[in-house]
Amino acid sequence: MPDAPAPDAPWWTLRFEALSALDPAFNDAVDDRAEQETEFIQRLAGSPAGARVVDIGCGGGRHAILLAEQGHTVVGVDLSPRILRVARQRWDGRNPGKPGPMWMPGDMRWLPAGGPYDLALLMDGAFGMFDDDAEHLRALGSIADQLRPGGRIVAVTMNPYHWSGKSRAVHVPPGVIADDIDVIRSYRFEAARGRIEDKVVVFKKGVRHEPPAQSLRAWTPVELVSLFRAAGFHQVRVHGTEGWSVPDEPMPVHPTESVYLWTVASL
Ligand SMILES: C[S@@+](CC[C@H](N)C(=O)[O-])C[C@H]1O[C@@H](n2cnc3c(N)ncnc32)[C@H](O)[C@@H]1O
Repeated sequence: MPDAPAPDAPWWTLRFEALSALDPAFNDAVDDRAEQETEFIQRLAGSPAGARVVDIGCGGGRHAILLAEQGHTVVGVDLSPRILRVARQRWDGRNPGKPGPMWMPGDMRWLPAGGPYDLALLMDGAFGMFDDDAEHLRALGSIADQLRPGGRIVAVTMNPYHWSGKSRAVHVPPGVIADDIDVIRSYRFEAARGRIEDKVVVFKKGVRHEPPAQSLRAWTPVELVSLFRAAGFHQVRVHGTEGWSVPDEPMPVHPTESVYLWTVASL
């Protein structure tokens, strides 16, 4: 896989690279939220110590790193070699000299061989990018091929019922992402396609940058169940959240309050 994407590549290959190149702080930190999410993943998936986990679209590795520190055998897969380097450096910074996750460049539709895994993760913006649901189905099928029988998948996606009413612009002031970075994000729900469009403008040291906009498919709970079943998964359960927070326990979807949907399913 070449190191830099072609300029005419789809947005999902360009946007995350562009943001990471502006500042690796755009790859979410291994922080308290990542810890809470990692706890909830284990609560949902019940993965025993030493489980084999693949974190797909792992980004800067915030979940992969925590799971490896807890003794799981972890593979982090991401389209972007640049972002995988951020993940590797983070691991090395926290665990000098210790072997950590294996970082593999790859596209989720053709997941690199590495299984069988006990658990696959698609966390926070790592699923929903493709224009056509046939591609999402292809991705789930390729993940299923690498899971052991009875293996589980946990996926976090956006709740369309919540986001349908949330067209808005948000200013992220300097100091939140990095001291010299200001961000304006504008969100818009595109009802006909069931997608959340997210445009980002970054000012770094006063210079304006506009990486490609993000467009993420936001499935309803019923659509998620159909999609995961069509890919061969069973016992598909969709849980909600209270606002933006990470649940301690599985909770029902609240149509307008739940920002995220957590899907868990077994092969
Ligand atoms: C919003 S980030 C989420 C990162 C991480 N899961 C987290 O929660 O911090 C989405 C990541 O998915 C990666 N990605 C995008 N399309 C992909 C694909 N088709 N296959 C694998 N990774 C992909 C991007 O490079 C990016 O690092």
